[in-house]
Amino acid sequence: MEKTFLMVKPDGVQRNLIGEVVSRFEKKGFQLVGAKLMQVSKELAEKHYEEHKDKPFFGELVDFITSGPVFAMVWEGENVIATARQMMGKTNPQEALGGTIRGDYGLSVGKNVIHGSDSKESAEREIGLFFNDDDILSYEKDA
Ligand code: CMP
Repeated sequence: MEKTFLMVKPDGVQRNLIGEVVSRFEKKGFQLVGAKLMQVSKELAEKHYEEHKDKPFFGELVDFITSGPVFAMVWEGENVIATARQMMGKTNPQEALGGTIRGDYGLSVGKNVIHGSDSKESAEREIGLFFNDDDILSYEKDA
């Protein structure tokens, strides 16, 4: 079964949107298999955003993601990587459709509430950066 890494960013945590975000993925039918409220270190932020290290906004990205607690999660389900990206909406909330998380709640390209892995490779890499193997559970849901 496919897994993805999702993270409520500091703006989402500050605005009490953890429950809203979790609820959307629960209701869609995906399964939460790992979660933690945590403070991202500068070192972890730089690794997480490695692919953006040459972009002019890299410093801002690292500063923002380390500015307050984030809620890091691992979700499991069929096609969860692509479906979660659809549910999140476009990176820029002004372009994201209503009904998506960023369309409904995002304020700016930086303060866009949620991060989600964009491919199988990123999902594996990001899950590995934020979670130990034994932080990820495997359990049957009855409903
Ligand atoms: P995320 O999915 O976390 O991955 C990279 C992030 O870079 C993206 O969400 C945006 O929040 C952020 N980003 C993209 N473009 C810009 C920009 N021009 N200025 C600041 N942040 C940006």
